[in-house]
Amino acid sequence: MQNIKCIGILTSGGDSPGMNAAIRAVTRTAIYNGFEVRGIIRGYHGLVNGNFIEMQTQSVSNIIQQGGTILKSARCQEFTTTEGRARAYENMTREGIDALVVIGGDGSLTGARIFAAEYDIPIVGLPGTIDNDLYGTDTTIGYDTALNTIMWAVDRLKDTASSHDRLFFVEVMGRNAGFLALNGAIAVGAEAAIIPEIAVEVDQLAEFINNGLRKSKNSSIVLVAESEITGGAMGLAERVKKEYPQYDVRVTILGHIQRGGSPTAADRILASRMGEAAITALIEGQRNIMVGIDDDEIVYVPFTKAIRDDKPINRDLVQTVKVLSI
Ligand code: F6P
Repeated sequence: MQNIKCIGILTSGGDSPGMNAAIRAVTRTAIYNGFEVRGIIRGYHGLVNGNFIEMQTQSVSNIIQQGGTILKSARCQEFTTTEGRARAYENMTREGIDALVVIGGDGSLTGARIFAAEYDIPIVGLPGTIDNDLYGTDTTIGYDTALNTIMWAVDRLKDTASSHDRLFFVEVMGRNAGFLALNGAIAVGAEAAIIPEIAVEVDQLAEFINNGLRKSKNSSIVLVAESEITGGAMGLAERVKKEYPQYDVRVTILGHIQRGGSPTAADRILASRMGEAAITALIEGQRNIMVGIDDDEIVYVPFTKAIRDDKPINRDLVQTVKVLSI
């Protein structure tokens, strides 16, 4: 291990439930191992502008159950420039920070990879995103909670959908990944999931209407992944109005509700294990890696691999939705 004394920690990009549990685990494991810890406020924005707080064990008391992030988060344009990163480096060295733990999604870890390469800083990433779209980890911090939130919301929509015999398109987040839509569809017993991963291969709407929407079912719930490729829930509803006017269609966009709330037990445990592993990784001399989970084992994934944008969905699950919706 290079001589690390003080570790900086930040949360960046879209927040996700469990980020606080990760901050707690990183802070406490670091202090336990004799490091100093600095919290960096508002992600890379705080690094570029020198916004740091000293973290003690009590700074992270009573936050494991809280959604959001006590360190706040942002998407920082300045950090994408060489000048911005130079200021960030200047500030962190002045503060005495000699390693970083970055909690965020692909954009945040891409920033970490570039920064680490430019300034030779040990950086460890934690996958904090509800999208579950990082390669090399079975799941990401916040994904399970978001799925549960989707389940909670759609259970309620099903009541009204069936009372009025309506077809509901429910748009869920995920940027360009269909994990929330696909597994959400299984969890709520939806009739279909429309996801970007297979949108270019099949006309999922036509397939669902022609084969899937049975006469014996008066109401239907379809989970749609937000994405230009799927057309989103609004786009699909417009199509139905034109092409299949016999259906009484409604749209619900779940939006940022999916990012909030108290993390599930699964997310708290995942974040705690990953947070501890981030410090272990730094002690072992690992750098420029993301902590992942593979078959319940902690793994280290190089940044370059983790941010490849082709984490595959499990295609068997597409079939599962189809079979179970008959
Ligand atoms: O990456 C997390 C995420 O919630 C995506 O699912 C979504 O597309 C995006 O962030 C929304 O970003 P913002 O909060 O900046 O509108």
